[in-house]
Amino acid sequence: MSVKHFHHLGLAIPDVPTQKKFYEDFGLIGEEIENRAIMRCIGRDQDQLLLTEGPERKLSHVSYGADDEGLAAVKNNIEASNLATEIDCPKDTPYEGIWIQDFEGDVYNVNISEAAPSKGGISPSIAHEAFQANGPGHYDRVNKKGSIAYDTTPEPHRLGHMVQFTTSLEKKIAFYRDVLGLKLTDTSEGLIAFLRTAGGCDHHTVGFLETDKTGFHHASFEMDNVDHVGLGGQGMLEKGYRNGWGLGRHALGSNFFWYIRDPHDGLCEFFADMDYIADDDAWEAKDWPMDVGFYLWGPNPPEEFGMNYEGCKTTTKPGAGGKGARN
Ligand SMILES: [Fe+2]
Repeated sequence: MSVKHFHHLGLAIPDVPTQKKFYEDFGLIGEEIENRAIMRCIGRDQDQLLLTEGPERKLSHVSYGADDEGLAAVKNNIEASNLATEIDCPKDTPYEGIWIQDFEGDVYNVNISEAAPSKGGISPSIAHEAFQANGPGHYDRVNKKGSIAYDTTPEPHRLGHMVQFTTSLEKKIAFYRDVLGLKLTDTSEGLIAFLRTAGGCDHHTVGFLETDKTGFHHASFEMDNVDHVGLGGQGMLEKGYRNGWGLGRHALGSNFFWYIRDPHDGLCEFFADMDYIADDDAWEAKDWPMDVGFYLWGPNPPEEFGMNYEGCKTTTKPGAGGKGARN
């Protein structure tokens, strides 16, 4: 085992306050320090997104946490790999640990940390009432109204995963597997791959889409259940943000999803009920045909869903329309 958990990701964007407000409307809390902003989930003592100012939208780095042994293993892996080099800590993203650049210029941080407790995940820091559903032969909820309160505020609990674009799916898988120590979970037709940290993890902490350049596709936050995914997505549309895609259910990972387009043409996803792999030996990575691997149900994905908008220089404020406009 090398890295243990997905820690945070960094984005450079032209307009930090507008991007920060987007994530606050999404349900995160933010702190602005000079020209940067740090976004966290309510009740979780761990940075989730670091926003820095830049001339265009760029994935600035991806950060994973490890223990001492894991960090030493990553250093050894870098030595043995022709896909990664160790670099100095970038000036505007000061996190401890080591910094790595991969074969296509993407930057990573590996720091010594445990995943901070959150209200999400398999061992939440605050007990949740079990989500009760009624189905044939399994009526969990009787003598009780099912719908949640009208004034419920859906709250993202933790950053679960991200998806990034790569110029080489094969090399990106090799980098994450051989340098950072992730496990391959599933692939689809040589176009999409999902990996997870070893030793008990969601179906994926990272996914890749192969295109002609690198870039950020989406960050995804865990919600209580499908109702909270629906309320989260609906609430963002009501605030004037652009619909990315949703509500639907993915096939690989099995999660409910709703994506919202951010002011710099990235996406942010509400997710719930993702597959969880506790025993790495119990899961066999498979390649799935795209028509069964992408999603089970939901609206047709908009054409722009899979497009790579890295390098976006414009800022779209709520209500201004544009790509993935409200529908
Ligand atoms: Fe996702």
